[in-house]
Amino acid sequence: MQKEQQQQHKDSTFLGKIVWILIGILVAFGIKLYISENENVNCLINDDEIIMDNNGKFIRDAGIAYLSSQLNQNIQATKLIADLSINQISDLTSFFESLGQLTKLKELKLSFGNNPIINQEAQIQKLVESFQKLKELQNLNLGIDSILNNQSRMKIIKQISKIPQLITLRISLINCDLSEDGIKSLEPIKDIKNLRTLELILVGSKLKEKEMDQLQLILQKLPKLDKLNLNLYANKIQQEGMNILSNGLLEQRQIRELGIDLYFNNITVNGTESLMNVIGQMNNLTKLNLGLEFNYIKDEGGKYIGDTLIQLQQLKELSINVATKNFGWIGFEAILTAIEKLQPLDKLELIIGVNKCGVKGAELLKNVLFKHNKLKSLKINYLENYIGDAGATFIAEGIQYQKNLEDLYLNINFNSLSDRGALELARAVKNAKSPKVVQLKVSQNQLTDKGIKDMLYLLEQSLPQFNSLDVELLNTALTNATRDDIQIKYANIQKLNLKLNTIPPSNWD
Ligand SMILES: *[C@@H]1O[C@H](CO)[C@@H](O)[C@H](O)[C@H]1NC(C)=O
Ligand SMILES: *[C@@H]1O[C@H](CO)[C@@H](O)[C@H](O)[C@H]1NC(C)=O
Ligand SMILES: *[C@@H]1O[C@H](CO)[C@@H](O)[C@H](O)[C@H]1NC(C)=O
Ligand SMILES: *[C@@H]1O[C@H](CO)[C@@H](O)[C@H](O)[C@H]1NC(C)=O
Ligand SMILES: *[C@@H]1O[C@H](CO)[C@@H](O)[C@H](O)[C@H]1NC(C)=O
Repeated sequence: MQKEQQQQHKDSTFLGKIVWILIGILVAFGIKLYISENENVNCLINDDEIIMDNNGKFIRDAGIAYLSSQLNQNIQATKLIADLSINQISDLTSFFESLGQLTKLKELKLSFGNNPIINQEAQIQKLVESFQKLKELQNLNLGIDSILNNQSRMKIIKQISKIPQLITLRISLINCDLSEDGIKSLEPIKDIKNLRTLELILVGSKLKEKEMDQLQLILQKLPKLDKLNLNLYANKIQQEGMNILSNGLLEQRQIRELGIDLYFNNITVNGTESLMNVIGQMNNLTKLNLGLEFNYIKDEGGKYIGDTLIQLQQLKELSINVATKNFGWIGFEAILTAIEKLQPLDKLELIIGVNKCGVKGAELLKNVLFKHNKLKSLKINYLENYIGDAGATFIAEGIQYQKNLEDLYLNINFNSLSDRGALELARAVKNAKSPKVVQLKVSQNQLTDKGIKDMLYLLEQSLPQFNSLDVELLNTALTNATRDDIQIKYANIQKLNLKLNTIPPSNWD
């Protein structure tokens, strides 16, 4: 009997040991899991700089706990970059609390959009309390895309407007519904007394005509800015909204750098006229990014742009997007001849595709490049413009006339080129002085095996001078055998990023 009991006791201690071993394994594994989760979490600390580069890494709440501890250990930081968007985070309370200890911060980038946070009122309260403590902050970049309700957003922005030294503010609100009263959450921005640079990224924010009243008010009340960037991509402000916004811009006509992106807002001819009227008065502009793609601005709109550009004689950097559903030859010609008359530019980006401007349009571009021949950065998107080989030759001449290039980007997709035109472009890239970063796209043209091999042979010779070369050759008449040869030949060249495919002969055009 006693023996049996002993036996039983032995059995149970044996079982107990197994259980303990199992628990031990689980604990070890759990710690291991925790460690490897933290290995996925980026946190770089450089003296007084903390960089948490974690967008889209699914670091979850465990990752946030680790990052909060890093903040607690480095409260002397003057600069923090915390990219936390798209991470399946539900609770940022500890992180926001830790942030409040970094009272020496001068520069902060905080983006936490696209996270399923719960109980947002309490979390945002913590963030607001921390912003109260960041009295030295000068430069704030806040990314709150697809997250927060109007009240939370309002509370944050209200607190930000009280930061005494703030001179640079960027807020990104992509896919937030700012319609009706939603836009009022931005109103406190107007009270930032020392602001010099403002960027508002309001992409797809459901803005229409009447919401522009609030933006007008903000622009009128703000102090005089140096730089302004308004991204209203994919809203519906229409002609009337553009007129209202232009009234606001008029109060900021001293600015030196302006970016305005109005993609797909249907501002039409009259909206273009009111915008150009204001820009024409910004005679100290050195940098202009104008995004008017898909706005039905018509030839008259193109002429308004041309007439305005000529007045901007301080301009050094120009980016203009007037592609798609805008105008025909007259609008196109007005813009290019105006750019030709500007003082020499440092940077030029011209996105003017889907315009059918043909050979003549390429010749106008050549004239522009002859005038502006000391560009550091040249980006041309002439997609679907029917320029043909003769047009490609004009553009190639313009590129070879450049003396100072650092970046060169050419999109000549879908332009009825044969081998001859594509080779002219490749030769221009090869001879160009002396870009480091190059992208060349000549997809959807009638290029043969021989043409493509010859192009790559030319480009290969300049590879030692480039830091990177991207070449896109999709939907040409390339055959499988040659594609395979090319892929083998260039497989191990790090700097070269080659996009190739083949399509059945029946699809060649
Ligand atoms: C913000 O306010 C607008 C207008 O009142 C409303 O349509 C929208 O749904 C609100 N957004 C949120 C996230 O509460
Ligand atoms: C441009 O700068 C000059 C000189 O600083 C100044 O007198 C002028 O008013 C400025 N123009 C605008 C539109 O603010
Ligand atoms: C674009 O604006 C014009 C002029 O304001 C208007 O007649 C037209 O209906 C608008 N188109 C769309 C799709 O909203
Ligand atoms: C555009 O402006 C012109 C004159 O400035 C005016 O006559 C015309 O009615 C306006 N068009 C629309 C659609 O509002
Ligand atoms: C060429 O390659 C593609 C995919 O790489 C393949 O689908 C196609 O059948 C090949 N064509 C011929 C003619 O072998």
